[in-house]
Amino acid sequence: MSAGGPPGRPARLALLLAVVMAFFCSAASKDEARNQLLMREKMMRLGGRLVLGKQEELANARLMALKKAEMAQAMKTQKFPPSMHFFQAKNLIEKSEVFHILKKMPKGAALHVHDFSILSMDWLVKNVTYRPHCHFCFTPKGALQFKFAYPTPPTPRPAECSEWILLEKYRRGLQNVTEFDNSLLKNFTLMTENPEATYADQNAVWAKFEAIFFTISGLVYYAPVFRDYVFQALEEFYQDSVLYLELRAMLFPVYELNGMVHNREWSVKTYKEVACMFAKKHPGFIGIKIIYSDHRSKDVSLIMESVRTAMVLRALFPRMVAGFDLVGREDTGHSLYDYKEALMLPASHAVKLPYFFHAGETDWQGTSVDRNLLDALILNSTRIGHGFALSKHPAVWADSWKKDIPIEVCPISNQVLKLVSDLRNHPAAVLMATGYPMVISSDDPALFGAKGLSYDFYEAFMGIGGMVADLRTLKQLAMNSIKYSALLDMEKKVAMKTWEESWNKFVADLARRPN
Ligand SMILES: *[C@@H]1O[C@H](CO)[C@@H](O)[C@H](O)[C@H]1NC(C)=O
Ligand SMILES: *[C@@H]1O[C@H](CO)[C@@H](O)[C@H](O)[C@H]1NC(C)=O
Ligand SMILES: *[C@@H]1O[C@H](CO)[C@@H](O)[C@H](O)[C@H]1NC(C)=O
Ligand SMILES: *[C@@H]1O[C@H](CO)[C@@H](O)[C@H](O)[C@H]1NC(C)=O
Ligand SMILES: [Zn+2]
Repeated sequence: MSAGGPPGRPARLALLLAVVMAFFCSAASKDEARNQLLMREKMMRLGGRLVLGKQEELANARLMALKKAEMAQAMKTQKFPPSMHFFQAKNLIEKSEVFHILKKMPKGAALHVHDFSILSMDWLVKNVTYRPHCHFCFTPKGALQFKFAYPTPPTPRPAECSEWILLEKYRRGLQNVTEFDNSLLKNFTLMTENPEATYADQNAVWAKFEAIFFTISGLVYYAPVFRDYVFQALEEFYQDSVLYLELRAMLFPVYELNGMVHNREWSVKTYKEVACMFAKKHPGFIGIKIIYSDHRSKDVSLIMESVRTAMVLRALFPRMVAGFDLVGREDTGHSLYDYKEALMLPASHAVKLPYFFHAGETDWQGTSVDRNLLDALILNSTRIGHGFALSKHPAVWADSWKKDIPIEVCPISNQVLKLVSDLRNHPAAVLMATGYPMVISSDDPALFGAKGLSYDFYEAFMGIGGMVADLRTLKQLAMNSIKYSALLDMEKKVAMKTWEESWNKFVADLARRPN
């Protein structure tokens, strides 16, 4: 610098030069600072530390080109499926190339799904209600109930249901059977053309949600249907490139045509047999495990009983029964804290009963319900179902991360049940950006008109993950589903190897894809 030099032209020139240089240098270093921030955030993201192989890089480029094109199109039309209600977005999603790739992508495991909402309801209408000896009746509130029986089921009390009608006979008297079947289907799902109008609030949508389970119970708990349901559901997930499932199962009594009912052990055994048979016929399929679940509306003494039952079932079927959960709408109260006496039971008997609690499926920050997240952590939950409210609890967030407790994110469920409307605003976006461990699941796909995991992966990849989510994100999510499963270490190794083989094949296909 010539600051100390003689005044005059050259000095001024030098000064000017210095100023210009400083401008360019600081611009360059500003860009560097930006790039460093971008790089740091990229590394922090879920999957950010994965190093892709050569084929994977190629596949990623193909995938991201499609994703960018679809995003650009959406910005132009202002029609972006993740920002729309799933019922209105479904048709658009099905036209997406990215979605078709996600369907083929080996997604690993479905870790958060419920026993009788995992198979398209079409099957119940088209197959189950067409079986012989199927009866139905109407409750005083107009809800449908079903029962298989021969000759006829005992007449219900009028306060409960109308007289039983044989469905076969009823259909014979109909002018338009298609119309009737469509109306049945409407009874079995939440789907409607105008969800905002049909479901004004969370109460309305939850009321119908619970009503559906009541309606279909008589169909799915009929023993021959029960078996076929499990088999068909596995088929639907297998077709969607899912190799293993953990089912939250209530294990209600399954009945025979003559009215005889089976106990819970029978149900677990049947799940096991059907899954085994399915695995034999479907290469690469690993199997299923059950998370025994009770409804959180019950009082403490009953939940105490269920916890005991869970311990017994786990002792009887250690490889089949993974643990215990409480299900049902959290916002009705009945917090984990209310049940702490029951939930401490295994620990106080030095029995290990892994928990997989639903927690934080709420928008009501700071309420007793919202504190379920604290108790899930304290009770050593293996995973957290939803964890929708986790980002509002920094201490729980930090500790559960330290303990490597993943959340099971179910985007479509959270949207349909009205916790969030635009999935770009799903709180998992924050957690995903920080790299918090998570898996993607579908909760009750059949009730939402979804199937398998792909629709939820689409929402997570396009909506929650934003533009920066790429093949690394997807690979991490798939690997997480095996890593955080309840499989034994040996089983995990096998599952991971099986998954890797199909992943490599998927990547090779995608890399070869002409653009
Ligand atoms: C229902 O599906 C089963 C196979 O899952 C099949 O054997 C049966 O014939 C079907 N029944 C009807 C009525 O479609
Ligand atoms: C029966 O109802 C369906 C659905 O509402 C309709 O598309 C079809 O045209 C009807 N068929 C007859 C024969 O009326
Ligand atoms: C349920 O099915 C019954 C019988 O077909 C029908 O009357 C009723 O409208 C259906 N409910 C809905 C919500 O579609
Ligand atoms: C949770 O884990 C801690 C530490 O291992 C243990 O002390 C505690 O008893 C466990 N609680 C339950 C309810 O299992
Ligand atoms: Zn759930």
